[in-house]
Amino acid sequence: MSYYHIQSIPLTDLAEQFGTPLYVYDANKIIEKISILRDSFKNVNLKIKYACKANTNLAILKLMRKHGVEIDVVSPEELRLAMMAGFEGSQITFTPSGVSFDEIELAAELGTRINLDNLDVLEKFGQRYGSTKEALIRLKPHVFGGGNEKIMTAHPESKFGISIHQKEEILAIVEKYDMKIIGLHQHTGSDVKNADAFTQAATAILEMAFSFKDLEIIDLGGGFKVAYQDGDVVTDMAKVGEILTSAFLNFSKKYGRDLQLWFEPGKFLVSEAGTFLTTANVVKIDPIKTFVGVNSGLNHLGRPMMYGAFHDIFNASNQNETEKNEYRVVGYICETDTFSWTPEGKQGERLMNKVTAGDIIAIKNAGAYCFSMASQYNSRLLPAEVLVLEGEAKLIRKRDTFEDIVRNLIDIEV
Ligand code: LLP
Repeated sequence: MSYYHIQSIPLTDLAEQFGTPLYVYDANKIIEKISILRDSFKNVNLKIKYACKANTNLAILKLMRKHGVEIDVVSPEELRLAMMAGFEGSQITFTPSGVSFDEIELAAELGTRINLDNLDVLEKFGQRYGSTKEALIRLKPHVFGGGNEKIMTAHPESKFGISIHQKEEILAIVEKYDMKIIGLHQHTGSDVKNADAFTQAATAILEMAFSFKDLEIIDLGGGFKVAYQDGDVVTDMAKVGEILTSAFLNFSKKYGRDLQLWFEPGKFLVSEAGTFLTTANVVKIDPIKTFVGVNSGLNHLGRPMMYGAFHDIFNASNQNETEKNEYRVVGYICETDTFSWTPEGKQGERLMNKVTAGDIIAIKNAGAYCFSMASQYNSRLLPAEVLVLEGEAKLIRKRDTFEDIVRNLIDIEV
């Protein structure tokens, strides 16, 4: 492996300056991914709506905004964060799942675009607003993304969206309340392996779109697959761009109006920009295997433990060593929190440059769904976050302190 640094800053310097555990994000990588997406859809009226659940750090949101990316949120709190980052209501899409109608009303009052994802909520929205507020409908196209089933969202059994087989019910509600449905939405899932699923889903949505007269937007969600390891399947953006552009332009022509094409990627934009730095607390030589125990665990980066996800791991303190050993990289949480899963989705070992206690152990692809899914389990502190912007490392979240753990506790007499 070539020497790994972020915009010329060695990872060990970052660890020394900010301490570990530490999330580091490379702004250049995010900007590069935005351009790749734009280039892939250069012939359509494209809007990118960053699915901020992947990483809600304010600096990341502001970076997206600065580069012309808009935003997709799923909770009132993400909505407020988006507004803190400077997004206007009209640039924000609210795509919740199974939330109370109060949340929908709040988002409507703030002027966001809302994806309604069940018939009940569609009816309530119609009753409440009639034709006075625009909305989008999230559909379930019944397609299989071919990836980890825990994160696929468009298959028949998924809880997300209104089934395309309920078209008649949808149209009856829309007509009953004279609703202004300006967009149709679908999201295939995350880390979608089968790129054909994007086309199948788009075909299903576009077919249905002819039944709606006020459309301005087709929102095809996120889910573009990135590489988590060498040789991994990735979404061929140029190819997907070409196929979807042609389907979309054909549709627009027949529909008789120039529509906007929206995507809401999370992982694609931020996953590869992130590196998680930990310190090896112990190297434990067991008769059967050697463990490297780091100062983090499933509390900070839970993807391997939750999904059997593969994340590349390497010794940032020793990048030139020729002596390699097999290590099982584990966390300090009182659970089996193995970071080193195999490509087959099992806990396993990694061949790494010799590790000595105190070395910085780096975990790649840590920009998406890592910090944003972190917790205080075992009463551990949340890590700090750093953004490397124009060659300078900037602290964008302070490390938690014990105060953050006890802040909301009420100390009663018992
Ligand atoms: N749009 C909607 C409606 C979504 O629910 C999601 C992700 C996205 C867009 C963005 O998907 P992406 O481009 O990031 O794949 N925690 C899991 C992923 C859960 C995805 C949730 N929804 C993981 O770490 O793999």
